[in-house]
This record gives sequence, structure tokens and C-alpha cells, in this order.
Amino acid sequence: MDNFTFHNPTRIHFGRGQIAKLDRELPADARVLLLAGGGSIKQNGVYEQVKKALGSRAVFEFFGVEANPDYDTLMKAVEICRKEKVDWILPVGGGSVLDGAKFVAAAVPFTGSDPWEILTTQGTQLKTALPIGAVLTLPATGSEANGASVISRRAIKEKLAFISPVVFPKFSVLDPETTFSLPPRQIANGIGDAFCHVMEQYLTYPAAAAVQDRYAESILRVLIEVAPKTLANPTDYDARANLVWAATCALNGVISVGVPQDWATHTIGHELTALHGIDHARTLAIVLPNLMHVQRGTKRAKLLQYAERVWDIREGTEDARIDAAIAKTRAFYENIGIKTKLSDYDVPASVASEVAKRLASRGVTAIGERGDLTPAKVEEILRLAA
Ligand code: NZQ
Ligand code: ZN
Repeated sequence: MDNFTFHNPTRIHFGRGQIAKLDRELPADARVLLLAGGGSIKQNGVYEQVKKALGSRAVFEFFGVEANPDYDTLMKAVEICRKEKVDWILPVGGGSVLDGAKFVAAAVPFTGSDPWEILTTQGTQLKTALPIGAVLTLPATGSEANGASVISRRAIKEKLAFISPVVFPKFSVLDPETTFSLPPRQIANGIGDAFCHVMEQYLTYPAAAAVQDRYAESILRVLIEVAPKTLANPTDYDARANLVWAATCALNGVISVGVPQDWATHTIGHELTALHGIDHARTLAIVLPNLMHVQRGTKRAKLLQYAERVWDIREGTEDARIDAAIAKTRAFYENIGIKTKLSDYDVPASVASEVAKRLASRGVTAIGERGDLTPAKVEEILRLAA
């Protein structure tokens, strides 16, 4: 196990009725920007609960943060914050709204010439940000308890991430009931995204990290178990609560301490969203099974462990067990309603070389836990996904 320093500063309020805790968390004289998406929170009662908890605080509202939050939209929210001297950002929504809030929180005090630099420097230069408190309505990204944010800029067809300790939410409210209104497509996306987050941190090479491995495997098994239940019965509280907590645990930093990480599936997937607007989780389902196949040499030991401990595959040769585990992974996505081929999304096979070239032109030429995933391999992975 590698050395590590672990600190997750986000206080979690989990469960029914927890939105009321906003009143305790936010200072009475806070000037709050309530950031939201396209309006789902006005249809499912979340907005009313939030407004009630905020009481007489000065609240400015900014709706319209889109799925895959856009830089140009968010810059309008930055202007409001500066004009109104906002001192807390309160995202209420899914990962896109939370990620958007992190960008706004970092961009308001940013003194450089162009806030897009926050993305091009991956957040490494950030010194400060406004405090964020989040109300999560979609279990998927883990953004509610991490320092990551992914921002799109449609005007230049880019989608980039930044990571910084200064944008961890100070607190997050996770009430599973706020997610009951999610359509099946978004529930499936959440399950598929969380599954892949665990895989990015687990399916690498053995690092003598027994707790991290077993914890990762249990999150995967919980997702496999809970997926059909929560899709079939969206108001089953216990099933949904387990999905919500699994998604948070998948990317709050606990399973990645002291171990190598991959993230190539996400790096490639973000390009598919930037170019073709495919939902984030769906891009992962297109990439992951083929990446497992192409990287089966270097991932061999963990693939065998994954086959046995996550899917109970114990019979057959090593290669047969790995093939079966990859097939199970693909079937998992297909069974929750997420297609795994580029052609399912009307994307031409030529995207394979296009993505490889885009990554190479940005200097992204050695990804994966060993840095051995080259543009040529990216192309091979996407060719297999045709
Ligand atoms: O905009 P509204 O009206 O709120 O509707 C949203 C949106 O259309 C809807 N929704 C959310 N909660 C709902 C609801 N509809 C009904 N009932 C509810 N309770 O769902 C739609 C999708 O929302 P979005 O926030 O885009 O989904 P998700 O949470 O999957 O976030 C995806 C974004 O997160 C990034 C992705 O790249 C993508 O941009 N990621 C962020 C990460 C992080 N910060 O650590 C890691 C991830 O790997 C990921 O890259
Ligand atoms: Zn993801």
C-alpha cells in the first residue's frame, strides 16, 4: 500500500427530512446563490423544502445549469455572485449542478485573466473558493463529497475536469426521497456511473490494500444487487437509500487511498460527450468492457480477483474467467438499460481515430494506472466499441 494522507471535510446529512438542516449549516446572515438545473426541483417539492429551510436569508436564484454544465452558462452565475456579494453557493440538483457550483465558487474569487484556466490547469493553481453546501437529488457522481468538477464548453467542444481541496462541499444533504422523481434513464445513469467509479479505482494491479479492495468489491456487489430493485420500484426507500450511499462511497476518496488508479474510461468517455453529447454514464458503458479487454494483460490479476469476488466466477481457465467477467460487466449495463455500442448512439466508427487524435493533441498520451494506454490503444478500444 502506498503512503497516503486522507481528509474528507464534507459533513453529510443523510436521510428523510434532512434538508431542514440547511438552517443550522448556513450562517443567518449568509448571502446565498441557489444554483439549479432545468426545474426538476420545482416539480418534486425539493425547492419548497429548501426555501423553507433558508428562511429569511438573502437568496439569489440561478436556474438553467444544463446536464454537462456549460462554462458560458456558469459565467453568468459568476457575474450575479460578484454583483450581489454572494458568500455561499447552494447547488440543489444532480452532479451537473454540483459541479457547476464548484466552478462558480472557484471562479468568483479567481484573479487570473480567464477563468477557463481553472480547467486547463486542472485546478492546481486554485487557492480559494466560496464555501459550498449541496443538496443532492441524483445519486451518481460522488460530487457531493469530493473535490472534483467536470465542466463542458460547447462553444469549443471541450469537456475538462478540475480537482481541488478548496471546492469540497462544506456539507451535503442526501435525502433519498428527493431522488424518487428521477426517470429510469437517470437512475440507470447513476448506477452505471457509480459502478465505473469503483472500477477506475479498483481494476488496476494488486497493491496489498485489503480494505480498499474489499470495500470496492462490496460497493460493486451492492450496486449489482440494488440496481434491479430500485429501477423496478423507485419509491422503495431502502433500495434507493443504498444506491445513494453506494454512489457517494464510490467516489468520496475512501477506496482510492494508497492504491493505483486508472480513470482512462472517464478520460475517453468525456471526449464522447464533448463530441456527441452522449450522457456521461453511457459513454462509460461504451468504453469500459472494451478497455477491460484491451488492458487484460496488465490488469490480469485484478480481473481474476474481480471475476471471483464480484461475480462468483470460479470455473474455467484464467482467460475464460476474464472473458466471463467482461461479459458480465457488459450485461450489467445492458440490463439496466444502458447500451454499450457506439452504433446504439448513431456515432460513426471514425470517432475512434478522432478521439485518439484529440487526446494526443492535448498531450494526453499515457493514461491508465501504468501510463501505458496510448492514443493507439484508445483507438483500438473505440474500434471494438463500434
Ligand atoms: O436539470 P434538472 O431539471 O434538475 O434535471 C436533471 C437533469 O436533466 C435531472 N434530475 C436531477 N435530479 C432529479 C432529476 N430529475 C427528476 N428528479 C430528480 N430528483 O437529471 C438530469 C441529469 O442530471 P445531471 O446532474 O446532469 O446528472 P449526473 O448527476 O449524472 O451528473 C453528470 C455530470 O457529472 C459529471 C459528468 O461528467 C456530467 O457532467 N461527473 C462529475 C464527477 C465528479 N464531480 O466527481 C465525476 C463523474 O465521473 C462525472 O464525470
Ligand atoms: Zn463518472
